[in-house]
Amino acid sequence: MSKKIGYRTVIFAASIGFLILLIYNYSITDGKGEEEQEIDYVIGVSQPNLLEPWQLLMHEELSTEAAKYNNIRVIYTDAAQSTKQQIEDIHTLKAYGIDLLIVSIDNSTALTPVISKIYEEIPVIVLGRGVKGYNYTLYIGSDHYFIGEMAAEAAMDLLGDKGENIIEIKGVTSAQQAEKRSKGFRETILKKSEYKITDSVVADWQRDKAEDRLKELLQYRLNLPNLIYAHNDAMALGAYKAIKALNVKDIIIIGSDGVNKPNGGLQLIKEEKIDTTFITPTGGKEAVQYAMEILNQETEIPKKIILRNHQVTRKNVNEYLQKKDEEIHFQKKENIEVTLGFAQVGNESEFRAANTDSIITAAETEGVNLILENAYNNQEKQIEIIRGFIEQGVDVIAFSPKVEHGWEEVLQEAKDAGIPVILSDRQIKVNDSSLWTSFIGSDFVEEGRRAARWLVNENNETEDVTHIIELEGTRNSGPAIGRKLGFEEVLQGYPTYQILESLQGDFTFAKGKEMMNTALIRYGHVIDVVYAHNDDMAIGAIEAIEEFGLQPGTDIKIISIDATQKAFAALSTGKLNFSVECNPLLGPQLMKAAKDLKMGKEIPMKIITSEETFTQEEAKQEMKKRNY
Ligand code: AHR
Repeated sequence: MSKKIGYRTVIFAASIGFLILLIYNYSITDGKGEEEQEIDYVIGVSQPNLLEPWQLLMHEELSTEAAKYNNIRVIYTDAAQSTKQQIEDIHTLKAYGIDLLIVSIDNSTALTPVISKIYEEIPVIVLGRGVKGYNYTLYIGSDHYFIGEMAAEAAMDLLGDKGENIIEIKGVTSAQQAEKRSKGFRETILKKSEYKITDSVVADWQRDKAEDRLKELLQYRLNLPNLIYAHNDAMALGAYKAIKALNVKDIIIIGSDGVNKPNGGLQLIKEEKIDTTFITPTGGKEAVQYAMEILNQETEIPKKIILRNHQVTRKNVNEYLQKKDEEIHFQKKENIEVTLGFAQVGNESEFRAANTDSIITAAETEGVNLILENAYNNQEKQIEIIRGFIEQGVDVIAFSPKVEHGWEEVLQEAKDAGIPVILSDRQIKVNDSSLWTSFIGSDFVEEGRRAARWLVNENNETEDVTHIIELEGTRNSGPAIGRKLGFEEVLQGYPTYQILESLQGDFTFAKGKEMMNTALIRYGHVIDVVYAHNDDMAIGAIEAIEEFGLQPGTDIKIISIDATQKAFAALSTGKLNFSVECNPLLGPQLMKAAKDLKMGKEIPMKIITSEETFTQEEAKQEMKKRNY
């Protein structure tokens, strides 16, 4: 047998082998059966394991939703709890030519760089468990710090004043969600001195590991714990088994996930094996729906969808299961009649004008009865307007809060009236998060970070001190607080960057100019940089600098936030150096949320908009496309 024939047989055998491997490792599903269907897109799904009930539920929800689309092929991979395998899976899926990746991870430290790389070429949806930074298309999942906070509140309720001995069972420590749940739990419960976390064990989300680790820990301990907080229900079940084996009673067990399956959190509560859990939606269904919107290149795809977590206890478990049942049989109604009352904060800026337009236009397009009233930057007026909407009995209330505090009373009245409230563009600070239903808007802290990152990268040659004037937005408003925090957080690492003074500009052109004049009189040529919390103040500052005889953009570098057309004009003429986008086009998301609420549908707790940044060069290219 000639060498050539031998060689071909080997190649042939190898390719057959590879094909079998592909089919074996990766389950492939077409939308509908094997009949020849035009496949438009191939989606790759990479999960860290299919061991945990929660990951199994995610897989189920993904494949159930994917089955509704007959023009897609979905390839699923299961890394069997090996980070190395998951990295390989992702590369193999990419090599297979997928159009979009959906990935749920365990090890955010190891996977973040891999996902960032893939994101350079194709859209990536991160599901359930976050990565570090923002190098992905969309994150769908829970706010894990918030889950930890809620677990702590529940623990304090259940413990009363008997809390000197708490044990924490942690998930995979390299996973962001374990880190955040632990942080949220500890920062909340340790505020009270009567509560002590005496021990913590790591059980990697696994029931058996939790059981073994706890048995080891409790075997030789004299004083038993009052409460065990497990980062997921599987480990909470492990804890239950451990204390049962040690014949110990009356230890409170808190879990998380709330899967409605055998050994899932809801069953464990019904069987009184654990005391409470927090529903952690997998987001599988939403991931496929958004994947299709992204692949069909629909606009206004958000950056983050934060799903709401409900607490389930022995008292409300049946009511919760019944509500879930109703949702399953929920019928989508067409042409739904909905009246939305919107209390706009003011008309202080270009952003605000574009925001109001977007809301009015979207209401017309979606056929929503919109009652929009303006508070002209007066909180009392805004509260009065909201009270008016409650009296009118609107279906949904939305507002852009002038400042973060002072809303409890009027929102309690809306809640008592059964009217859900959507926070638009800005968030508020209230202890009881059930006073609002959803937030649609930006991550202001990240906007501030982006402004500072540009400055330190732009200026990295010089050792000299860089003197900065900060023009702040409305005092105590979400954007002013967040943008200052994010900017200072990054500058902390660069001691040669000094904020000379932060002046109150109120987001308006006039105040921005006035404050810049004050700064120029006080500091004159010492000023190197102006950081303005929005474009309007920056444009005001530019005028003041020119009147002072200096060249904006050259003698003094200027950074702003919003990236409206006015900012683009200033960027393309070199008077402004950098602008961070704050997206005002919230109308479409708001109308969708209002309609869903009226239909009794659960909506995400937060929808964080996707935003970019613009240098002078980028603005010149983008200028024509800018529609606000
Ligand atoms: O809340 C968003 C901010 O409000 C915008 O950045 C600013 O222009 C507006 O006043």
